[in-house]
Amino acid sequence: MSWDPRALPHAVGKTVMITGANAGIGYFASEQLAAAGAHVILGCRSPERAEAAVAAIRRRVPGAIVEATPIDVSDPRSVTQAAETLLERDRLDVLMLNAGIVHPPATRATDARGNELVLSTNVIGHFQLAALTMPLLARSAGARVVSLGSLATLLSRFPLDGLQLEKSYTSWTAYAQSKIALQVFGFELDRRLRASGTGVSSLVVHPGYSTSGRTPGIRGVNHPSRAKRFADNLQAAWTQGKDRGAWSAVRAAIDPDAAGGQFYGPRFVTKGEPALAPAAPTTRSPRVGARLWTLLEEYSGQTFELSSRTP
Ligand SMILES: NC(=O)c1ccc[n+]([C@@H]2O[C@H](COP(=O)([O-])OP(=O)(O)OC[C@H]3O[C@@H](n4cnc5c(N)ncnc54)[C@H](OP(=O)(O)O)[C@@H]3O)[C@@H](O)[C@H]2O)c1
Repeated sequence: MSWDPRALPHAVGKTVMITGANAGIGYFASEQLAAAGAHVILGCRSPERAEAAVAAIRRRVPGAIVEATPIDVSDPRSVTQAAETLLERDRLDVLMLNAGIVHPPATRATDARGNELVLSTNVIGHFQLAALTMPLLARSAGARVVSLGSLATLLSRFPLDGLQLEKSYTSWTAYAQSKIALQVFGFELDRRLRASGTGVSSLVVHPGYSTSGRTPGIRGVNHPSRAKRFADNLQAAWTQGKDRGAWSAVRAAIDPDAAGGQFYGPRFVTKGEPALAPAAPTTRSPRVGARLWTLLEEYSGQTFELSSRTP
């Protein structure tokens, strides 16, 4: 299966929603999918940053069909409102679960429901969004959910009885466990979707090691300092820009040969063109997936049942 991230297949007629789309990988995935002809909805928590990102895509991609919708994935009410707005649409072909806290706070913080903030942002809000929008995805033939995992999943344990990190919080543990959880969710979602016969699939990706200092400068979206550019360029041998970091997610979203349950990442692990990659074994475990699903229902207060009756 060959794939050229610089020559994408047409995505005209597809509607894509990406969380955390005003910056980084979410922005570049939006821009690349808009350039391929998709109608892209940028899910952003800041109206100003959303406006700047939409303006940047319109500037750089003539004829782009883009719009923004407000969503703060750490706020259950905001997620519900965003889902309600999405459900008014005719179709949703790709839901990309990208928003994330990548530099977690030094001390533990919580959301309005009392959930640890990194887990809430990177996982729980996305679980709720996927659950609420599933009826729309299920009536959009061939729809896909794409979850942003990480190489960090290879470097941490995943104690299912300690995901809220009440007693052992560190910013690294919070981040790594949240990314493991999102991958576990993405693979478990695909198993459940297959069993339900809805026709929706779930794919998981990781962007390697993608830094803003190696990323093109874009007004209103990405303007790293000279010092950041200098420091990031010192790591050029094993890093790439976030424009390239978006490639795996874009492939999972629109490669006609991609299939549910697959895991894509850069060819050279931390950088390169997107290819199938090995996922951390824990993240593919059905036992861990089933247990996490129950926990996510509990943490979110959102049931997520998939049956063949899903419309
Ligand atoms: N860069 C990498 O090398 C790398 C590696 C592995 C995995 N990833 C994953 O890739 C995804 C994107 O990473 P990135 O490097 O592009 O990060 P980034 O540049 O920091 O962008 C993160 C995006 O998420 C948004 N966001 C954060 N909290 C949010 C919330 N509560 N509600 C809505 N949006 C929120 C941010 O919006 P604001 O501007 O409002 O903060 C921003 O648009 C993340 O899931 C990350 O874990 C990245």
